[in-house]
Amino acid sequence: MAITLKDVAREAGVNVSTASRALNNSFGIHVDTRKRVLEVAERLKYRTNQVARGLVTGQSHSIGLVISDIRNPFFAEVARGAEDAAFHAGRDLVLCNSDLNAEKQMRYLDWLLAKRIDGIVINSVAPLSPAQQDQLWSAGVPIVLLNLSLAHRRSPLWRFSAAIADNLAGGEIAGNYLIDLGHAHVLHVTGPRTHGNFADRTIGFLNAFQRRGLPRPRVVYGEHTFGAAYQVAMQHLEADRNMTAIFAGNDVIAFGCMRAMMEKGVRIPEDVSIVGFDNLEMSQISSPPLTTIDQPKYETGKAAVEMLLSMMAKDGPHEPEHRIIGVRLIERESCRRIAGTAVQDRRSAKHLARDGSSHSLSAANKSVRDKPRKHSVKE
Ligand code: RIB
Repeated sequence: MAITLKDVAREAGVNVSTASRALNNSFGIHVDTRKRVLEVAERLKYRTNQVARGLVTGQSHSIGLVISDIRNPFFAEVARGAEDAAFHAGRDLVLCNSDLNAEKQMRYLDWLLAKRIDGIVINSVAPLSPAQQDQLWSAGVPIVLLNLSLAHRRSPLWRFSAAIADNLAGGEIAGNYLIDLGHAHVLHVTGPRTHGNFADRTIGFLNAFQRRGLPRPRVVYGEHTFGAAYQVAMQHLEADRNMTAIFAGNDVIAFGCMRAMMEKGVRIPEDVSIVGFDNLEMSQISSPPLTTIDQPKYETGKAAVEMLLSMMAKDGPHEPEHRIIGVRLIERESCRRIAGTAVQDRRSAKHLARDGSSHSLSAANKSVRDKPRKHSVKE
């Protein structure tokens, strides 16, 4: 049977309240009494009942992390960074998969709040109604968002603190890279249109083509899963024989497209080049290794929890902080230069990429930009 506080108190010869105050290092307990209670607790292997303690203190020493789907390895790395930061601060992490479903996301919020969770990081915000956004805002615990769209600057979601990858810049870097290699006929296969980070990547990518006077590439929105991307690629590889490159909204989408190309006998990069987004660990070992846009996943999860902890440490309202996380191109072997291009504006991709990443943030929001990172790394 589990040892209770009562057992410790009896064995140490003090009452329950004294035992509790000794264990909590409270003021006004004689040093000898504290020592005796701690020794007894140690000997009996007493474990504090965190649930009961939470009921008294109103704190659970836990942090909620709501993501869309842990099966995407991107989230495994984000979760690892978040957990390490939480562990370091003596908090545990409760993981919830929302499947990008607003109802499910709000149910999880209710459950987390009922468990008196101390703060919540939400990665992948499902499209929320204004009423749901208000519900989130009045949750009563600090909340940090990830994957918020930069286009949400004028939306009520911008009142939340957020750690956001510079998806606009990433999309533009990918677009300029392919254009510089001579690709003017590119298919963009991406995630749900309503999902802010995918939407920003698409805007950046289309901007690159528009700025350089090229026709607007075709965009196919869908689920951001391996299977859905495979289906899309199977259809389009059949229907569009002129396509010379694909920009995938993330690496998992890229892998689905690569599988379809393999089945159709389309050679990468000889026939079709492909660029992903995320730089998952496994993108180095795909065949061929995938050229992709890197976003620092572990660091993002860690930064989000650190932002949350500092909000939790302060009482009262706080200014939202929007931390924009830099991205960069990782060149591997999935793209090739092709002869002849319709590019009208021949400014270098590096120059345009820098343009693309220089979003200024409103002075009203305390904003931190990560140190500029190199835009391109050859592996
Ligand atoms: O929602 C999933 C995607 O969002 C991930 O693949 C990653 O790109 C993240 O930003």
